[in-house]
Amino acid sequence: MEQIAYVNGSFVPMSEAKVSVLDRGFLFADGIYEVAAVLDGKLIDNASHLARLERSVGEIQLELPETTARIQEIQKELVARNNLVNGMVYLEVTRGADTGRDFAFPKGVKPTLIMFTSVKDIIGAPSAKSGIGVITVPDLRWTRRDIKSVALLAQVLAKQAAAEAGAGEAWMIEDGKVTEGGSSSAFILTQDDVLVTRQNGSAILPGCTRKAVVALAEERQLRVEERAFSIEEALAAKEAFITSATVFVQAVVTIDGKKVANGKPGPMTGRLREIYVDFAEATAV
Ligand code: PDD
Repeated sequence: MEQIAYVNGSFVPMSEAKVSVLDRGFLFADGIYEVAAVLDGKLIDNASHLARLERSVGEIQLELPETTARIQEIQKELVARNNLVNGMVYLEVTRGADTGRDFAFPKGVKPTLIMFTSVKDIIGAPSAKSGIGVITVPDLRWTRRDIKSVALLAQVLAKQAAAEAGAGEAWMIEDGKVTEGGSSSAFILTQDDVLVTRQNGSAILPGCTRKAVVALAEERQLRVEERAFSIEEALAAKEAFITSATVFVQAVVTIDGKKVANGKPGPMTGRLREIYVDFAEATAV
């Protein structure tokens, strides 16, 4: 059966899911997106994703065309219509299509809202067991990375370089420190068992999974330091991992081909992954 997408109020077969060539998401990357995981047909940590969506659109003075409560209803209906069990819901809101290509905001134009789903076995993914390699690349992005903008060209290039190198993610480097992954937050566990991840601010996206993992770790009396770290520190660490809605918690076993510790997923990473999955299942809607 053909996938069903949501476009501006209608559920339509993917082949009919279209927006205008004048859509500002297409012309200017003038839009915001969110990705929420789906486990057993339910949305994971969705309140956190919708809160970040509201914040992101606010930062670019874009009004959501629907309330977040309605957006969640649409997400759920789309999951149901696609019989999606495990995977994710992508949603994007743009400043809509004007009659031409003026940079400044158009007046009286309704924002575009689209959604689609994709299938992914997040729990059973082979890389969940094996871990991944990462490569390092310079962080070429703009300086408001806290906004989940659809302007992802720097990440496209970073992740393409990773794919060509046989790596699972690219860690972006600025001023000698890791900002984050192309589509994930970066963590290390130091030799004295401190969990380190970069502090939120305009240099990184405030990851929803990052936030949950930090809270879950602190609840378990693990020491967490929110600060930048270098690749040298990561290579000297006990463990390294990434977090995101589409991988949850995933071990990083090599950086630029060099092993982190013994080059195998670490026990703390495995434990945090289990704890996150339990949290995800318990709070799914
Ligand atoms: N990306 N940092 C960046 C740059 C990201 O693009 C993402 C998510 C994250 C992790 O955020 P979260 O835990 O809320 O998923 C961090 C999504 C999954 C994507 O672009 O597909």
